[in-house]
Parts: sequence; C-alpha cells; structure tokens
Amino acid sequence: MAAKAPDLMSTIVSLCKRRGFIFQSSEIYGGLNSCWDYGPLGVELKRNVKDAWWRSMVTNRRDIVGLDASILMHPKVWEASGHLSGFTDPLVDCKQCKSRFRADHLENLDKCPSCGGELTDVRKFNLMFKTFMGPVEDQSATVFMRPETAQGIFVNFLNVQQAARLKPPFGIAQVGKSFRNEITPGNFTYRTREFEQMEMEFFVPPDNDAYWYDYWKEQRRSWYIEYGIKEENLRMREHATDELAHYAKGCADVEYKFPFGWSELEGIANRTDFDLKKHSEASGKSLAYFDNESNSHYFPYVIEPAAGADRATLAFLVDAYDVEGEGKEARTVLRFHPSLAPIKAAVLPLVKKDGMPEKAENIYRDLLDNSIKSFFDQTAAIGRRYARQDEAGTPFCITIDTQTLSDDTVTIRERDSREQYRVASTRIVEVISKKLSGKA
Ligand code: GAP
Repeated sequence: MAAKAPDLMSTIVSLCKRRGFIFQSSEIYGGLNSCWDYGPLGVELKRNVKDAWWRSMVTNRRDIVGLDASILMHPKVWEASGHLSGFTDPLVDCKQCKSRFRADHLENLDKCPSCGGELTDVRKFNLMFKTFMGPVEDQSATVFMRPETAQGIFVNFLNVQQAARLKPPFGIAQVGKSFRNEITPGNFTYRTREFEQMEMEFFVPPDNDAYWYDYWKEQRRSWYIEYGIKEENLRMREHATDELAHYAKGCADVEYKFPFGWSELEGIANRTDFDLKKHSEASGKSLAYFDNESNSHYFPYVIEPAAGADRATLAFLVDAYDVEGEGKEARTVLRFHPSLAPIKAAVLPLVKKDGMPEKAENIYRDLLDNSIKSFFDQTAAIGRRYARQDEAGTPFCITIDTQTLSDDTVTIRERDSREQYRVASTRIVEVISKKLSGKA
C-alpha cells in the first residue's frame, strides 16, 4: 500500500536526481533558480506524456491538426493580444528582508509574512521576457519570448484553415516552449520560468461555445485518468469572474492534489472571438472565417484546453510513486501507465556465464529493433536489479535463466503485481507489445 512520506516532494526530488529523471540546471555552478534539466529517464517520460497528448488531440482525431510556430513573434502580436499591457502579476517587496511576493498570494499586505517587516506598494510586473533581434539593442529591436503557444495558432488561423480546408468546429494543436518571468517560481518543476505547453485552440460557431466548453472540460479530465492519475487526486475548479484572464468568458482548471496542495494542471478557457478580432484589428487583415453555407463571414469562438507538459509530467511522477512494505522489505515503485513508462522492458541475464548474456543480448536487440525502449543489466543480484527497475517504473523485467538454455523460455516479471510467468523467447516482442497496447 502507498506509504507516502510527509515530505513526499523532497523524496521525489531526490529520487529524480538519483535515477536521472530531473537535474537542477547548471548544477555545477550552484544551479539556476527554477530551471531544470530532464535526464535520461525524465526525457523519455516527458516525451511519452507529450506523445500521449498529441495522439489523443491530433493523431486519433479527424477534426484537429497540428502546428509548430516560432517562439519569437512580431512584437505587435503581444500588443494586440493584450499581453504587453495586461500580462502582469502584482508584486510587493519587503523593505527589511528583501523577500519578494505576489501580492495576490498574501492574505494581508500590512506586513511581510517572513519577517514582519514593512512591504512596498503593489507594483504591476510584466511577465514577458525581452530580448533583442539583431545586433542593435534598442527599442525597435525588442522582441519577446512567447508566454503562451496560443498566439502562434491565432495568427496562423486562416493559413491553417485554408491550407487544410477546415470548417468549424475544428482545432489547431501545438506543443512547445513558453517563457514567463514568474515572480515566485517553485515547487520543483511546477512553476518555472521556462516550460513546455500543450495547447489546442478549438474554433467553433459562436452559438456552440457552451457545448464545446463542457465537452473539452470532460475530455481533458478523462485524459489524466486514462493515463493513470487516481480519480480522487483530480478535481475541476471553475474560475470566479474576478479570476478570469483578460481574454476569457469562462475558465475551469483541472487541478491535481500535489503534496503541496491542490494546484492547477491545465486550464480550459472560453476565449470567445477575442484573439481573432484583436489580431484582425491590429494587423488590418481580417481573420474572419468565410462560411460557404450562409455566404458570410464570422469570427469563430475559441475553446482552449491549455496544459503544461512539465506539470503533467510532475503529476504523473507523484501519482505513480508508491512504497510497499516497511524497513528493509520496503520496495519503491513508480507505477507509471505502460505508455508513459520511460523504459518498457529490462533484459536481465541471471548470471554472467553459460551463454546467458549472449542470449539476453539477442533478446535486447530484438526489442530495440521493434522500437520497444529497453534496458540491459547484468550487474548485481537479480533482486537488486528488479528493485532498480521498479524504482525507474519499468513495467516488465525479462530474466534469462538456466531453464532458458534448455527450453528457450524466459521469465517475465510484472512490476505492479510481481507476478512471474514463462514465455517462449521467440514470443517476447509479441507479448510485450500486446501488453503495452493494453490488448493482452
Ligand atoms: N494559453 C493559455 C495559457 O497559457 P495558462 O493557464 O497561463 O493558460 C496553461 O497556462 C498551462 O501552462 C498551465 O495550466 C500550466 O500547466 C502551464 N504553465 C503555465 N505557467 C507555467 C509555469 N510558470 N511553469 C510551468 N507550467 C506552467
């Protein structure tokens, strides 16, 4: 049973470092605040999360296409979208201890919650990172690192709609980096200044917005459950009117019960026709859709499920973490959904002799040739090797033992149940593939 430590977050942070999921950025120089690097296991896990999202949003659907827009965009994009004037957080500093806070995260603004000192007045702080395009660093060369991937979709709305001959309702999806100069980053990879988003803008006839808003709320909640998040750790929270972003008519968050409390995983917003209209006005090029049936133009409404790849990855990690038993018997397991597990199978010759390593090497090669990410390990006692794979979240261990040499069968051990059964070595790829696809 899950024996979750009270300081679960620090346990997970140290497991992530030890096993190569996530390292602090520039660690040898003391680290860079809120920046993280994904190691060999982490990069596989995060890729699998992004692939699972892409499959469910683009590959498996007839009404959504993909886009990969550039991070740097014309500065006028951010003027029109309202980010230049409105994408701000309220900031206060403590005059005494110099701590910095988001004013909307404090219960009262009378004194510093750390030292009791006096706080400055609230100032608005724009979250966009600035840089310069070209060699001259002046106002006219200023460009911004995008704070959301969505704007790349809006400005390409007609390009994509016309090239792919789409008719609302349809969606455009994008996965990519975004940057925000957050005042209070923290909680490991939960709030960082550089992160990856998985966003989809779904364009609908204006009078269908309520239907599609409800539809996407349910779809997106279910997606996390399909990939293994426990239902009791998820909830939907509808925003109050005063919480809504400047562009939204309605917004609901999918929240996850992180060790540091219920927090947003993803937002589903009704952005109305705000963005398409603003870009049409600012650019002088209408982004209205021409409807053949009514022989007229209209601006579609937009329902936007906007998720974070890093936050989703962190939630899958936390939810998968489990410790079975106690003391020396304790077993740490990451119970990832097989599609998300960084490594699918470990190939383990029982001993380093009698032809077992050679046999194991052939099996390993066969798995890799069939695009099943696998790992070969012939060091340490078999129990220790199983434990290492449990901690990496590997769903299957394949052991080559004495019996293999006589009847060409191997043992497959399942991570979650620890059940073991024998399979002909010629059928390993077939059996593991079926199990990974959920068809076994
Ligand atoms: N286009 C809408 C939009 O960007 P958002 O709620 O600001 O909406 C969407 O961001 C998602 O992006 C969030 O739910 C979260 O998962 C992720 N995200 C936002 N800011 C983040 C940050 N500083 N660090 C990590 N992920 C972040």
